[in-house]
Amino acid sequence: MSGLTALSFLRLCLISCLIPASLSCGLHGDVGSDGSPLAELLNYRPMTEANNAAPSTSSRPLQPSRLTLTNVRVFDGTSLQPPSTVIIEGTHIARMCSSSSTCASHNHATTYYDAEGMTLLPGFIDAHTHPLNTTHLTSLTRAGITTAVNAFCPSPPLCASLRHQPGLTVLVTASFIATSPNSTHARMVLGMGVPDAADLLIRDISQVPGFVAQQVAQGAEFIKLVGSAPGPGLGVEGQAAVVAAAHAAGERVVLHAASYEAYEEGLRAGVDQIHHAPLDVAVDERLVRMFKGMDGVVAVCPTLTMMRATVEALGGKRNLSFAAAVETVARLHGAGVPILAGTDANLQPGAPAQVPFGSSLHDELENLVQAGLSPVEALNAATALPARHFGLVDRGVVREGMRADLVLVDGDPTVDITASRRIVKVWVRGVEYEM
Ligand SMILES: *[C@@H]1O[C@H](CO)[C@@H](O)[C@H](O)[C@H]1NC(C)=O
Ligand SMILES: *[C@@H]1O[C@H](CO)[C@@H](O)[C@H](O)[C@H]1NC(C)=O
Ligand SMILES: *[C@@H]1O[C@H](CO)[C@@H](O)[C@H](O)[C@H]1NC(C)=O
Ligand SMILES: [Zn+2]
Repeated sequence: MSGLTALSFLRLCLISCLIPASLSCGLHGDVGSDGSPLAELLNYRPMTEANNAAPSTSSRPLQPSRLTLTNVRVFDGTSLQPPSTVIIEGTHIARMCSSSSTCASHNHATTYYDAEGMTLLPGFIDAHTHPLNTTHLTSLTRAGITTAVNAFCPSPPLCASLRHQPGLTVLVTASFIATSPNSTHARMVLGMGVPDAADLLIRDISQVPGFVAQQVAQGAEFIKLVGSAPGPGLGVEGQAAVVAAAHAAGERVVLHAASYEAYEEGLRAGVDQIHHAPLDVAVDERLVRMFKGMDGVVAVCPTLTMMRATVEALGGKRNLSFAAAVETVARLHGAGVPILAGTDANLQPGAPAQVPFGSSLHDELENLVQAGLSPVEALNAATALPARHFGLVDRGVVREGMRADLVLVDGDPTVDITASRRIVKVWVRGVEYEM
């Protein structure tokens, strides 16, 4: 069997991970009962080595900018500000002034760029992606995404190889999935050839603190938990144990949930974020009340782009409803639940639901606007809000002293959301990406 077969399997996993187990059909045809036929195929080592040897880490010294943008409208992460002057120095935003003359004394050896008619925004954050190599990162960067959440880490060295690629999108990296051996997700990771996958599955609640400690030690920046209801998996008690251990270790818990029941269990367990949206039944008043009654604030990243692609690919064969996902976003947003923009971007050969890296975030912004967010709220969902909910205090807003993770677009996306695609320049920590 070829590497392509292994990738195809990984793709099946990404897609079918979205489907509540009870709706899931026979996706295990490629895998033996113990997962062995594919276990040797998906070898992360060559991918990791290629990433570590990528040009962006070895050649071409990347110069931080020394740049003055003039006459530029600024979307600061929350609202649109009048035209002003913004000075980028090195890796950070040095100054913001209402005119270039008041900024002048701070300005040495700078390049000027007249950005009249353009809008400067915080670099976009895609709150749910699955990059495997530097090509995927480049696609994200070109689209103005300066931070992306890597929503599942099958191999810590592979994730590490993607995390420090100077000048490219910076990743926030998940743990391995917290799930029990009887879940659909467990069977899938066993078939992916993930080293030690069987040992990472949670057989008993007593294993939870050890799992979390090990994941944190290996670089996980948050814990990824799988909600499997109505299929078998970690129940509310197991999920609550994961939340308790993660919070004790100072980490957030992001729950995968694509059904009404999985949403409810996650809320009862006290997760910090729920990703995906129900494809069976929309969230109703009862669940909205649960969201409002939570001690903390639970954010939702509905990945509508992936939900749409999944329903288009599989909806004919299964009883899946994209309308339920959209209705969920409308109701949660209406109730004040923070909505994050995320895509589930993955590029697997022959996938029934490929989601391209980069352009898909702009699709998601439009999906969110169609679900009832204003363009300003959609932009907030892709900047300041995900920064806050992932604890990224140095980005997501345009303000003096913040990281120069920035995107400059032509036009005004706070009025016409499609202007987010008209990218003129992108900076990652002050380094301008060469388009
Ligand atoms: C990354 O993977 C894509 C397939 O998704 C492939 O086309 C591309 O060549 C790969 N890039 C590198 C640098 O290996
Ligand atoms: C699945 O495993 C979990 C954890 O071991 C257990 O609590 C649950 O009862 C199991 N579910 C089924 C349907 O066997
Ligand atoms: C599809 O699911 C909805 C919501 O659960 C249900 O009301 C409907 O009867 C189902 N339709 C079919 C054909 O199973
Ligand atoms: Zn995903």
